[in-house]
Amino acid sequence: MYQLVSVEAAYEVMLENIFAKKKRLLTQTYCMTSANGLSYALSLELITVKHYFQEDFIMAHSLPDLPYAKDALAPHISPETFDFHYEKHHAAYVTNLNNLIPDTGYADMSLEDIIKSADGGIYNNAAQVWNHTFFWNCMAPNGGGEPTGALADAINAKWGSVADFKAAFQASAVGNFGSGWTWLVKKADGSVDIVNMGPAGTPLTTGDKPLLCIDVWEHAYYIDYRNARPKFVSTFLESLVNWDFASANFA
Ligand SMILES: [Fe+2]
Repeated sequence: MYQLVSVEAAYEVMLENIFAKKKRLLTQTYCMTSANGLSYALSLELITVKHYFQEDFIMAHSLPDLPYAKDALAPHISPETFDFHYEKHHAAYVTNLNNLIPDTGYADMSLEDIIKSADGGIYNNAAQVWNHTFFWNCMAPNGGGEPTGALADAINAKWGSVADFKAAFQASAVGNFGSGWTWLVKKADGSVDIVNMGPAGTPLTTGDKPLLCIDVWEHAYYIDYRNARPKFVSTFLESLVNWDFASANFA
């Protein structure tokens, strides 16, 4: 049971709870301070602050900015694709997640913790929020080329050459049946591998560390490539992939 000692002490606890995203503790403070005149006045202040901070600090899941302008990957990925894939699909997963989690045990969790512990709709939407944010960073203007450094060494150790890795990644992504994600991951032993996953699959639920991914849902490529997933995947590997991001993840 929380005991109100002074206005100053209560505010201190309240602010700690806000910044720790502990919504239930904040609500609990309100419920237990509404018994008399002094605490009632304080409670109104608590509610005011709670509402002020709610969207930014408690309902913490928001659509991150793209790491580049919507026309930065043209002609390989059009601004129209970002109009739909980012502003409609990705945004919808964020909205869905924020609608699903209030008054559940997931309301105060980080996105990563939700993904690791939820199932059903909450898991699906949380994983899709995280995956899409990761995917945008897997591409860059003037991307493509070849990996360097330790990541290149690991890729060469696994597949013999970067060209053979690209062929293997291409075959996996093209063969990933239906909607899903194809990942380059770092295994627990430090080696790398390619993993195909389903519609909301993410390595956050396995022991693997994600290095790079491609979204092979049709919504990722239908505007620019229609049904030609092979062309979308080969363009990703040759002209879009952000090896600096993958190398940073590998380190
Ligand atoms: Fe997508």
